[in-house]
This record gives sequence, C-alpha cells and structure tokens, in this order.
Amino acid sequence: MQRLSKGGPYPRGCACRRCPADEAGAADWFDARFDGAVSPVWTKDNMDLPPDVQRWWLMLQPQFKSHNTHEVLSKLFQIVPGEDPYRSRDPRHCRRCAVVGNSGNLRGSGYGPEIDGHDFIMRMNQAPTVGFEGDVGSRTTHHFMYPESARNLPANVSFVLVPFKTLDLLWIASALSTGQIRFTYAPVKPFLRVDKEKVQIYNPAFFKYIHDRWTEHHGRYPSTGMLVLFFALHVCDEVNVFGFGADSRGNWHHYWENNRYAGEFRKTGVHDADFEAHIVDMLSKTSKIEVYRGS
Ligand code: C5P
Repeated sequence: MQRLSKGGPYPRGCACRRCPADEAGAADWFDARFDGAVSPVWTKDNMDLPPDVQRWWLMLQPQFKSHNTHEVLSKLFQIVPGEDPYRSRDPRHCRRCAVVGNSGNLRGSGYGPEIDGHDFIMRMNQAPTVGFEGDVGSRTTHHFMYPESARNLPANVSFVLVPFKTLDLLWIASALSTGQIRFTYAPVKPFLRVDKEKVQIYNPAFFKYIHDRWTEHHGRYPSTGMLVLFFALHVCDEVNVFGFGADSRGNWHHYWENNRYAGEFRKTGVHDADFEAHIVDMLSKTSKIEVYRGS
C-alpha cells in the first residue's frame, strides 16, 4: 500500500530507486522548510494572492504600474488553461526530473544522455541545446522564462512563465494574440511561438515561499535556478540537478559562452549565489536531490 506523506511531494515507499522521504536522519532541516500546500502554478483556483504575497510581488519591479491582477488573469486564462497539471499523480510511477541550470560546468561533462533519460527535463532562460547535445542533452519538457528572456519553443514543450509584474501577464496574453506589447524594461518578443495549451504561470506565492523558507531573504529574490529547482522538488519524485554553480576553476559563466566572465548571475547583486550554493549542498547532503557537478 502506498501512503502519501503529510502534504509532501514524496509518497513514502515511492516507486523510485531512492525515496527522498524515506532517508533517515538529517531530514529536520528539510522538513522545517518544506510546505507541500503551496502550489507552484498560478491557476484559476488560486488567482487571488494573499495580501502579503501581493505586496511583496508588486515590489519586485516597483517601477511598473500595477493592474488588477484578478482581471488580467481572468482574461489570460481564456487563452491558456490556468489549471494545475500536477495535481494527480500515479503513485506506481517514479517521476524522475532533471533540472538543468546554465553553468559552464556542463561544458565537457558528457551528461547529455543521462539528462535525456529523465521524464521531465527542465531548462531556463536562454539554454541552447543545439550544438551542446552531448553535454546538456537534446530533450526539454519544461522551459522557464520571463518576458525579457523568452524565446520560441517547440510545440511539445511547456513554457512556464515566471512573472515579476502584472505587465508580464499582459505581455504573455498579448504575445499569444495581438502582439501589442513590445517593451517592458527591455525589448520583448511581440509574438511568441509556444504551445498555448502548455503555458503555465509560476505562482508568486510559491516564489515568496522560496524567498521566505529556503533562501531566507538572502539576495533580493531567488535566482531562476532556485525557482526551477523547488518547482521540481514539489512536482517530481526524484530530482537530479545539473549545471549549477561554478566550474572546476571557479568560473560562473554560461556553458555556451567562451568568455569565463559572461553571464555571471552571482555578480548582479540581485541573488546570493553563495547562499544558494549552500542550499543545493544541503539538499544533496539530505539526499533530496543528486547534484551532478560537471567539469
Ligand atoms: O544566467 P541564467 O539566470 O540564465 O542561469 C539560469 C540559472 O542557472 C541561474 O539562475 C542559476 O541558478 C544557475 N546558474 C548557476 N551557475 C552558473 C550559471 C547559472 O548556478 N554558473
């Protein structure tokens, strides 16, 4: 008999090779922070944010005028589904997920086939695969982006929009219909080619939950990598992490860039890369994830 753990993502005695919830010891750190009640996706059922979340979310990019979120989402959910695709799970199947960050430590790693063997393969922002298949794989099931980092995706990929302001919700509605919005703080794609039926919106309440409980207010807000990692921890049974942190020489660049100073997310001052690395280490030490550190 399978038994679901209290509010958690992991069925006790799950169908995976290793079941994170069954690891003995060292789980207090995880259990004190994990809250399975917060949904990673923003849907028709949880449209109205708690007031503290709403206030926090609107301050992420405070230069933008806020709009009535409920109204904007109601219109958006006429274009995209607005449903939680993760609500029902088959306890007999181990859902194995690869979270693929953009670190240069993937270069020369040869992880491609290993990454491609997962049920869900989650990438973020630019994350090219063509030309890097041997190291990063070629399959993608989920691609997390914000408007300013968005690119077209093949029809079988879920686009998970990470919104930082109400304008981002207006943008995705526009980019899937009229093409009116072309600029936020940078140029954005007026039209986006993605499968509308597979668009999901990242829940600001989940974003704040990570900031409060996991990154504990280190940095102004968590990096995209953290957002994706915790999304995976809440919807998957087994989470394997690739492309996070520095390479073996201490460089923090992207795997597709030869300039070792390029795209250093730790230098923006917005995120606390060292604290985030500590969280990844703790998740690994407590056997909640496995980290592939690359080369
Ligand atoms: O640079 P970008 O934000 O697109 O990278 C995606 C994520 O990958 C980052 O938010 C960060 O969590 C992770 N990353 C990393 N180490 C790097 C580069 C990126 O951990 N060297």
